Amino acid sequence: MVAALAAQGIDSPFPIQIDTLPDTLGGRDVLGRGKTGSGKTLAFSIPMVARLGGKLAGGNRRPGRPLALILAPTRELATQITVALTPLAEVYGLKSTTIFGGVSQQRQVAALKAGVDIVVACPGRLEDLMKQGFVNLDSVEISILDEADHMADLGFLPVVTRIMDKTPQNGQRMLFSATLDNGVDKLVRRYLHNEVLHSVDEANSPVAAMTHHVFEVDGTETKRILIEKLASGSGRRILFMRTKHHAKKLARQLTDSGIPAVDLHGNLSQVQRDRNLAAFSAGDVKVLVATDVAARGVHVDDIELVIHVDPPAEHKAYLHRSGRTARAGAAGDVVTLVLPDQRKDTALLLRKAAISVQPQQVTAASAAVTALVGDVAAYVKPLPRVETPVRGQSQGGRSQGANAQRKRANRDGSTGGGGRDGQRSDAARSGRPARAAGEAGSGRPARQGGSGRSGGSGQGGAAQSGGGKLQVGGLVRMSQAGGARRGGR
Ligand SMILES: Nc1ncnc2c1ncn2[C@@H]1O[C@H](COP(=O)(O)OP(=O)(O)OP(=O)(O)O)[C@@H](O)[C@H]1O
Ligand SMILES: [Mg+2]
Repeated sequence: MVAALAAQGIDSPFPIQIDTLPDTLGGRDVLGRGKTGSGKTLAFSIPMVARLGGKLAGGNRRPGRPLALILAPTRELATQITVALTPLAEVYGLKSTTIFGGVSQQRQVAALKAGVDIVVACPGRLEDLMKQGFVNLDSVEISILDEADHMADLGFLPVVTRIMDKTPQNGQRMLFSATLDNGVDKLVRRYLHNEVLHSVDEANSPVAAMTHHVFEVDGTETKRILIEKLASGSGRRILFMRTKHHAKKLARQLTDSGIPAVDLHGNLSQVQRDRNLAAFSAGDVKVLVATDVAARGVHVDDIELVIHVDPPAEHKAYLHRSGRTARAGAAGDVVTLVLPDQRKDTALLLRKAAISVQPQQVTAASAAVTALVGDVAAYVKPLPRVETPVRGQSQGGRSQGANAQRKRANRDGSTGGGGRDGQRSDAARSGRPARAAGEAGSGRPARQGGSGRSGGSGQGGAAQSGGGKLQVGGLVRMSQAGGARRGGR
């Protein structure tokens, strides 16, 4: 595994990894908080793979019965996690697959039937497949919630709870996020045992120079021109907006004015989402206009600027959106655009995010703006537009995915079943045996058979890599440029 990491230019651990690895490798339940871009994905992937390939190895792979489960809030994030852990899993001949909605379930079901060790999933589709009997979580040794606080947000909690209730009580559990706040209490109380909290101080994190700017504008027209100016640079930038509709509109406007831009939001089909993010990751377009669907966990190399075109809904969203830049020790800038009637709320939000920055009154011509834009990219003549159907249009604009239905149910005041489930599993929980640190490594009750499955582990991954093909439910492997980009650091 060290060799597999080194092949990607990863040869020494980041602070969150130094902090958590002794406990996670030892089988402890861990709550890990480290800032955005600090390397949490590997912090949980390394021990998960090491334990499944080492101490917990043995038994035959069985269809539909994964040994490890990682839950993530968005499809893009689930895909990226799979991409990050696959080279490690391959070292031990472990198979991973990604499960999420918005794409046909066929390939996901086929992968499950063929047998997988590690499932990375968004909760909605996973629960769907569980209900259909394609996946059973009773062999799960290790479960991980990435962006745990987000998963604990009102909408996700019931389904996450129902899923976690189906994993064995004595497994190892890890919760990771840049913002592990009180929201995770319920999950922690219910699913973690004798857990250790590792909270990596900002100050101890790798050098990450994130510079914040607050640009006040006098009205919408000034703002419109300013957005165009800020988007015109030659480096990668993300523009965050509140609504899907506005994100789509802005991406079009920018493209029409010679700045190619793609959008990323929940109104696009998954194929479009993948295609747009891939184009942005590959550098084919330098501007991504996104809703908060791209705010959590998603990693694209070398984003130099994050622009909050619409101020985020709350301070956590500010931190996560902003965290798409200045990752893994790189530098980056964050701009918040503020209309006169947004000043008060923005000031409050920034205070809560512990960002202290003096707002500046600007126009597109201001020196502060020009400095941020840097080299201006060449004008690109817009191509004639080919209209592609937007997901949901055929259903009168209503998305029919599990998440959309859950959100609608929440809006309509339904409980979404969380309460009911809560009672049931509380009762089930009462007989839970106390678990000492490391005890999860003591066996694999749900697996039978010999111990030969990963017999080659430790002899290097190349010979085994055929057994660990990545099967992504949704097409694109957007961070696959890993070797090249990491080599540069
Ligand atoms: N030890 C390391 N050495 C070099 N690069 C690393 C190391 N650990 C992680 N990275 C790289 O740092 C980048 C950011 O990591 P990652 O996406 O795991 O951050 P994160 O902490 O999960 O951030 P977020 O809170 O936004 O989800 C990735 O490109 C990853 O490959
Ligand atoms: Mg992450």
